[in-house]
Amino acid sequence: PSLEKEFLPMYFGWFLSKRSSENLRKAGQLFLDELGSLKAFKKESKYFAFAIEDPKIKIDLTSYFVKRPPGVLHCTTKYTEFGKAPGAEEYAQQEAVKASYGKGFTLSISALFITTKTVGARVELSEPQLLLWPGDVDKLLSTDNLPKGSRAHITLGCANGVEAVQTGLDLLEFVKLEKAGNKGDEVGEIGGGKLQYFDNGMWMLVLSKKIDVRAIFSGYYG
Ligand code: 2AM
Repeated sequence: PSLEKEFLPMYFGWFLSKRSSENLRKAGQLFLDELGSLKAFKKESKYFAFAIEDPKIKIDLTSYFVKRPPGVLHCTTKYTEFGKAPGAEEYAQQEAVKASYGKGFTLSISALFITTKTVGARVELSEPQLLLWPGDVDKLLSTDNLPKGSRAHITLGCANGVEAVQTGLDLLEFVKLEKAGNKGDEVGEIGGGKLQYFDNGMWMLVLSKKIDVRAIFSGYYG
């Protein structure tokens, strides 16, 4: 039948429940608070244009990551740009995407990370969840060959002048380092897990207990 062309959303993704959003924001807040008062972080604060080594002064990372997503948090699967993005139609027409639209999922957060540009949560997708993950987003360079779902994340905040798309690109930088065998410097245990430092202001907190969040797979129309 000749149906009218569907109107595609700005992006597809998992939209967290209000409660899960609040929980994850709180975990992110604790992480920033703890990192900001850590001696090891202060020593490397030049990357953040702070350069504070005084142990009595706490670095206010919450104010640094000033652009925070309003309302509930989300994990973007495919940025379709209302149908204009490459692969948008193909993505929207997949059986898995159509069948999952409006359905509930539990996403697992395995780590929290910051760079000089973004703060985010790393999402570990299950096999069924990977069916909703596009095939073309897990690379920074066309030659990159990273596991499917490497980019899956939830943006918690961006520094002034940084767009949200950056969080996923930053996570891919971590994954590339990991793939090259770089496990980061083990800085030690802080609340919630093991802290790793990858230089250049890249910090990752690998959670000892994963955070589960409830989310609905849907589209955002702006
Ligand atoms: P992110 O937080 O998942 O990175 C609206 O702009 C949302 O779409 C942002 O929150 C950002 O989500 C994502 N986004 C914007 N531009 C994008 C792009 N070019 N590729 C992938 N995701 C993008």
